[in-house]
Parts: sequence; structure tokens; C-alpha cells
Amino acid sequence: MRTLQVKLGDRSYPIYLGEGLLARAGEFLKEAGCGERVGVVTNPTVAGLYLKPFQEALSRAGFRVTSILVADGEEHKSLKSLAAVYDQLIRARFDRGSCIVALGGGVIGDLAGFAAATFLRGVPYVQVPTTLLAQVDSSVGGKTGINHREGKNLIGAFYQPRVVVIDLAALRTLPRREFLAGLAEVVKYGIIEDPALFALLEEKLERVIALEPDLLEEAVGASCAIKARVVEKDEREEDYRSVLNFGHTIGHALESLTAYEKFLHGEAIAIGMTQAASISVRQGLCDEESRRRIGLLLRKAGLPTEIPSLIRVEDLVKKMEVDKKSAGGKVKFVLCEGIGKTQFCWLSAEEIAARLSA
Ligand SMILES: NC(=O)c1ccc[n+]([C@@H]2O[C@H](COP(=O)([O-])OP(=O)(O)OC[C@H]3O[C@@H](n4cnc5c(N)ncnc54)[C@H](O)[C@@H]3O)[C@@H](O)[C@H]2O)c1
Ligand SMILES: [Zn+2]
Repeated sequence: MRTLQVKLGDRSYPIYLGEGLLARAGEFLKEAGCGERVGVVTNPTVAGLYLKPFQEALSRAGFRVTSILVADGEEHKSLKSLAAVYDQLIRARFDRGSCIVALGGGVIGDLAGFAAATFLRGVPYVQVPTTLLAQVDSSVGGKTGINHREGKNLIGAFYQPRVVVIDLAALRTLPRREFLAGLAEVVKYGIIEDPALFALLEEKLERVIALEPDLLEEAVGASCAIKARVVEKDEREEDYRSVLNFGHTIGHALESLTAYEKFLHGEAIAIGMTQAASISVRQGLCDEESRRRIGLLLRKAGLPTEIPSLIRVEDLVKKMEVDKKSAGGKVKFVLCEGIGKTQFCWLSAEEIAARLSA
């Protein structure tokens, strides 16, 4: 097992990661000072796999557990599900000493985290991420929220968990396509800050995909450490935190243009990262060899790297303009300087279109 720290003053918290940690959740919750009442928010898919042993582990440690189920799927990261979570918390007479646990992927993590941020003006919560994406990204850093029909994540709060418990064994039941999509975020950390992580993936990709425990711990641990450092520097995304959007400007636009049906998030950002690397080369920031390595690694991981030919660059670029991070007609675009270093660049829609089709 390894332990990392997210250092944010009185909002600091540990991240525990290793195999079999679900069974030890009770001790981590106790250490985090969680009260006796615990509401576990999860969905039927994850509940079928992990809820019973998880509940037993918490009960053994003396917690009184109420489970709160939300339907599976991004479309349920909604106001309606949130209202249902509040209803159950109120019905079960949860008070300010109670604690919420998010057991599941990023959808559950974001929804349960936002419920915790707002119920009784804030109750403690714990992230127990079970997808690779949630383990390396959404469970760390305190962004919580729900979707609105006008757009994703439009309603939310920054609210840090008390502890993050990552059980790598949970990845064994994750569909392979979901795992590989999560791996795209791991590749992203390598590109933005960690050449050694990138090289590890290049050398040992098959063994990571085969879920070899030591390699998983290394890759997930290195990813969480980078996410933690970025969040420590800029918790509320006023400046540097947007480095995490590498590949996301194009990726989000692709997801939105294809109605969130064609690509998993990680697949869209694999394309976005490859295209961002090409733009970086054309801007004279990135060398050709690094660009080639990025495309090769993503393709080796079975991820897409090309914008589908049916998609017109003009339409894609139009979607980027309405991205919430755009200001004054320019988008804050993250470019890479080879592998391990980035640079922000404000680009207009026309500039991106020109560099994409060059
Ligand atoms: N808060 C943040 O900083 C942040 C960052 C990135 C993404 N997100 C959000 O995360 C969400 C996506 O998260 P996701 O990719 O984890 O999707 P998800 O939560 O929908 O999980 C994907 C699928 O895997 C299933 N699943 C989860 N764990 C499993 C396991 N161990 N075995 C088998 N199946 C399992 C889920 O039930 C679901 O069907 C989006 O809503 C996105 O906005 C948030
Ligand atoms: Zn992402």
C-alpha cells in the first residue's frame, strides 16, 4: 500500500492506494474522524460487485451504514438523482456528524461529493473510486457537481473529501474499454509532468493493461501524486490547474459533437492529446519525435488518435468556442513542449482550425 497527501492546509487529506483496501475502509474512515453514521452512495452495477463486503467492512469497524442507490449512467448525474439522495439522507435522519461515502466511478463521486458539499451546508465525505478514471482523476481535487441539460458539470462546488481510498483490485471487474479510457488520463499526466511515467507506460504497457499489481500501483500512484501537486498549487483552477485540460479542449468538443455517444471521455481526449501535440509541433514548441511517441503509445493502448473523417473541423472549432473556459473569443489551449512540460497559449477558433488542418 502507498499513502499520498493532498496538502491544502486545514482541508488536507490522505490518499491510500493498494490492493484489497475496500476491506480496510473502516480503519481509514475512523482515522479520518468520520462519525458513526455513514451513507454509501453507489449504483446497482457497483453495488452488485462490492456493496455487501464494503458494508460489512464498515459495520465491523462500528459504523452504521445506509446505502443510497442511484441509477447507473452519466445521464443520472442530475438534479433528479441529487434530490433523491437528499430525500434519503433526510429520511434516515443524517446529521452534521454523519459521513457520505462515494463508492463508484466519477459519476457517483461527483454526485455524492456535491450532495456532501450542500447537505446541511456540508458534511464530511470520502471517495472510494472504482474506475481507473475516478482513481487517477475525479476522486482527487475536490471538484464535485452535476450536469444540467444545457451542459455538463454546470452546477457544482469545490469540496475536498476527508480521505480517498483506492482499491486497485476493483479494476479487475472494470470493462476493458473503460480501463483503457482511464489510461488516457494516465498518459496525460506523463505528457504534462512526468517523463518517467510516460516511459514506464511505453515499456510496460501490456503489463499495466494486464493489471499487474506493482505496475498499477506505480502508474496510479504517480498519477495521483501529480493531480495532488497541481491541485495544491491552484485548487480553484484560477491558473495552473487548467494544465489538466491538456487534450481536453478538442476532446470535449468531440464528445459534445458526437452527443456523448461515440466516445468515452478518455477516447475523446486521446484524440485531443494527439491533435494538441500536432498543434504544439506546428507552433514550434514540441519536437516531432515526442509527437510520434504520444500517438504511438495511445494507439498501442487501443485508443483512437484521429478526428473521425465525418467530423468537420469548422464544427469542432465552433464547439470549442462555447467551452466554459473560453474568454474573449480565445481558448486557453494547453500545448506540450515535448514530454513532461507544457505551455498555455491563447488561441482563437480560426487559429486552432488552421493548425488542425495544416
Ligand atoms: N471531479 C472531477 O475532477 C472529474 C474529473 C474527471 C471526470 N469527472 C467526471 O467523471 C465522470 C466519468 O467517470 P467514469 O469514467 O468513472 O464513469 P462512470 O462513473 O460512469 O463509470 C463507468 C462505468 O463503470 C461502472 N463501474 C464502476 N466501477 C466499476 C468496477 N470496479 N467494475 C465494473 N464496473 C464498474 C459504472 O457503473 C459505469 O457503468 C463524468 O461525469 C465526468 O464529468 C470528474
Ligand atoms: Zn479528463
